Amino acid sequence: MGNYQIIATAAMGLEALVAKEVRSLGYDCEVENGKVTYTGDETAIARSNLWLRTADRIKIKVGEFKAFTFDELFEKTKALPWEEFLPEDAEFPVIGKSVKSKLFSVSDCQAIVKKAVVERLKKHYKRSTWFEETGALYRIEVALLKDVATITIDTSGQGLHKRGYRIDQGEAPLKETLAAALVMLTNWKADSPFIDPFCGSGTIPIEAAMIGQNIAPGFNREFVSEGWKWISPTIWDAARNEAEDLANYDQPLDITGSDIDHRMVKIAQENAFEAGFADIIQFKQMQVRDISTSKEYGVIVGNPPYGERLGDKKAVEQMYKEMGQAFSKLDTWSIYIMTSNEGFEQLYGKPATKKRKLFNGFIRTDLYQYWGKRPPRQSN
Ligand SMILES: C[S@@+](CC[C@H](N)C(=O)[O-])C[C@H]1O[C@@H](n2cnc3c(N)ncnc32)[C@H](O)[C@@H]1O
Repeated sequence: MGNYQIIATAAMGLEALVAKEVRSLGYDCEVENGKVTYTGDETAIARSNLWLRTADRIKIKVGEFKAFTFDELFEKTKALPWEEFLPEDAEFPVIGKSVKSKLFSVSDCQAIVKKAVVERLKKHYKRSTWFEETGALYRIEVALLKDVATITIDTSGQGLHKRGYRIDQGEAPLKETLAAALVMLTNWKADSPFIDPFCGSGTIPIEAAMIGQNIAPGFNREFVSEGWKWISPTIWDAARNEAEDLANYDQPLDITGSDIDHRMVKIAQENAFEAGFADIIQFKQMQVRDISTSKEYGVIVGNPPYGERLGDKKAVEQMYKEMGQAFSKLDTWSIYIMTSNEGFEQLYGKPATKKRKLFNGFIRTDLYQYWGKRPPRQSN
């Protein structure tokens, strides 16, 4: 077993949640902007890919060093032990980014890193010609930030938000990683009711169901590092067996998704079917203003339209007012609404208990949190 520096990348604002998940997998970690770093073996790579709900990707850090010149970038990259990661037939494209660094030409940095890796491997594999690159994929990234180059290999392949259940979507679907983050921020427990009144393609209810039954989000997909020779298939089998053992398919759930648009309800149902929750999540066509329930101590999480498009604003604001009126009757429920509309509290008719800044892609939003009454303590 090797020991690797692992990076779980995180969208802006989700770093603390990713760190919490990493720690609950049993790994101590450090948190920086956009990433969480920890040490682990091949099992840690497999488990991180399978389990992290809010991370974007899992990468291996091959090296990190200061680089002010192309020569420095070349020599220091060549000094890294590439042969420990890349077999002779590896396919190894190099991508890059550069922020606030002297080496700002990303295409040049990529070409130099590629050349340095080739030089290193040529010597190790005793070759005089180029590599055919017909084998498994090892996508290398050179990321420069303030003249520090971090060189990584991606272990995930497709981003971790691709869970494998979304077969169709609406106009503004939420990324699965952000949907899971929203659910986790509510501290919802599987034995209380859950409603998403703007369910669209069903992302939030489906992520809630996976959390409620402790289903690993990556259980139904593949990862690029499954094709790597130095991570034995038995590691992946063991990680998948662990996930299967920890899943609690018998946990009853009371999760509802509703949407004004019947076409979205159909798409949400199809996606939930694909995710294995066809009979578990209830979907219905309904306007938010018509939501009422006699159930208590539940959680509502909603990602409504923000009204950013010309012409939509008035209708959306009117809808926020009606939502506030409908939800004012649910005083035991905790309500979480994510929107970029800065006048939300006024329209909704109540100041939030707490606000949390979140980015939905590039849109800056707030998660307006209205905490409900707590259930009375049970006496013995
Ligand atoms: C931003 S999308 C939600 C996307 C969803 N989270 C997903 O991942 O697909 C907003 C949804 O709110 C729905 N909607 C708009 N006005 C509504 C209303 N008055 N009541 C209920 N749903 C409404 C839209 O049909 C749309 O599907």
